[in-house]
Amino acid sequence: MDNKIGISLDFLSTSLQQQLKTNLLKLESEGLFKEAGTSNNTIVKNKEMRSDHIYWLDRCHQNEFENQFFDIIDNFILHLNSTCYTGINSYEFHYAYYPKGSFYKKHFDQFRSNDSRKYSMIFYLNENWKQGDGGELCIHHDDCSLQSISPIMGKMVFFESSKLLHEVLYTQIPRISITGWLKT
Ligand code: OGA
Ligand code: NI
Repeated sequence: MDNKIGISLDFLSTSLQQQLKTNLLKLESEGLFKEAGTSNNTIVKNKEMRSDHIYWLDRCHQNEFENQFFDIIDNFILHLNSTCYTGINSYEFHYAYYPKGSFYKKHFDQFRSNDSRKYSMIFYLNENWKQGDGGELCIHHDDCSLQSISPIMGKMVFFESSKLLHEVLYTQIPRISITGWLKT
């Protein structure tokens, strides 16, 4: 990863992507998503920083698609730990719903007070995304160059949580994804 970010276009099967998308939209329509927080836990600051809504995936939900997703993540972690000695022993993933007009300003994913988040993974579920819809993931590289990543269905991005400064640009359409962190 010479530019510090891995992108895969076939990490999840097309059918699982569809099922997770349907599940996300159902939960969102039932009003189960909550405003997301940040490490600076004041509500006012949060709203200036990010305006997405989230719902944590959990095996306790006994949802077959969330569980299939976690099985794939478990296998990926076994592979990472055995080939790269990464020592990952937990993770957390949430669905994210960015209503039209929302964003997530420049940040690192690792909190200053807690360095347990080692790798960030984001799975995009936007089927008809097109140029002009906004909501790109924008990476701010150390040499000041910017890398813009479209949030299209099927794309997974992977990076070290402490290393990449990034933001979600203002979205002109509702934008959906699964975002999570592999932890030690
Ligand atoms: C995050 C984040 C990026 C994206 O949730 O920390 O940076 O593209 N998400 O959704
Ligand atoms: Ni982030």
